[in-house]
Amino acid sequence: MTETRDDSLASPWIDLLIVEDNPADARLIELMLAEAGGFRCRKAATLAAAVAAIAESAPDAVLLDLSLPDGCGMATIERIRAAGPQLPIVICTGLNDESMGLAALQHGCQDYLVKGQGDGHQIRHTILYAIERKGMEEERRLNADRFKRVLLQTVRSLSLTLEMRDPYTTGHQRRVAQLAAAIGRRMGLEEGRLEGLHTGGLVHDIGKINVPAEFLSRPGKLSAEIHMVIRMHPQMGWEIMHDIEFPWPVATMILQHHERLDGSGYPHGLKGDEIILEARILAVADVLEAISSHRPYRPALGLETALAELRQHSGTRYDPQVVVACIAVIEEYGPAILEDDIPVHQMPGLNS
Ligand SMILES: [Fe+2]
Repeated sequence: MTETRDDSLASPWIDLLIVEDNPADARLIELMLAEAGGFRCRKAATLAAAVAAIAESAPDAVLLDLSLPDGCGMATIERIRAAGPQLPIVICTGLNDESMGLAALQHGCQDYLVKGQGDGHQIRHTILYAIERKGMEEERRLNADRFKRVLLQTVRSLSLTLEMRDPYTTGHQRRVAQLAAAIGRRMGLEEGRLEGLHTGGLVHDIGKINVPAEFLSRPGKLSAEIHMVIRMHPQMGWEIMHDIEFPWPVATMILQHHERLDGSGYPHGLKGDEIILEARILAVADVLEAISSHRPYRPALGLETALAELRQHSGTRYDPQVVVACIAVIEEYGPAILEDDIPVHQMPGLNS
């Protein structure tokens, strides 16, 4: 009786693409799988033919030889993954080379087989397992994406909540987040850390939720008492956020964004490296945005005044490397970086 694939799979047949340049080897695998049952095999003798076959119709799995006329080693895996990122890949290598198999797994393959070892049933089992494993990996990835989206939406909602109480600073956190991420990118921070920096920027003033709204929008010079209450906002922000298990130090960024390199900041008068890099970047982005924008107690002072403040206190209040990166970002993008909602990853040249 012909054995068919697992009942939980949508089609009773596994559409397998065998990528193998040796016709005898390809034929042997095909015959072994015919005996095991449940497979419809297509064959490709080159990487180019495999990519074309995937484009024509995505198979359920790919059995891939690592040595082909138009590619060899890990590069073959990259090409197949580029052609079908969702495809389960089982490596079929002529070398009994454990390290090659492990390297293939690290490159995103689900399993590997050594030619001449095992029968059709074992190959079938390996391919079924690879399909199941890839399905689980995809599900995990989708769940992680979903979780990240929900987290970002929540952070944006928190950010908006504050802005609804304080209309004079509407957009301030968003603009600071955008500028901070652009500075971080210019400084070479990796993507995950940039996401954290952007997230921290979106809620860096969340502690102001604890400041009476009339203090925030009061025109004219602020009294010492009001100043004192407002200066509590980094600590308040930390209290609100520190229990949330972000994959980044968001609460510390909030707590430290008014600290200054020379110890003149608040709430703890931290110095130098005691202040995390993200907070040093947020500090510069925050000052630049705040000085160049309108505030209820004073008109906008403009970008030039903001840059002069940064230059004057670079190395004392502000991290000089962050100031250099900030000036470079402003030189490249001008005031648009503070006016438009540009997705930072779409900005050309920030990595250069
Ligand atoms: Fe602040």
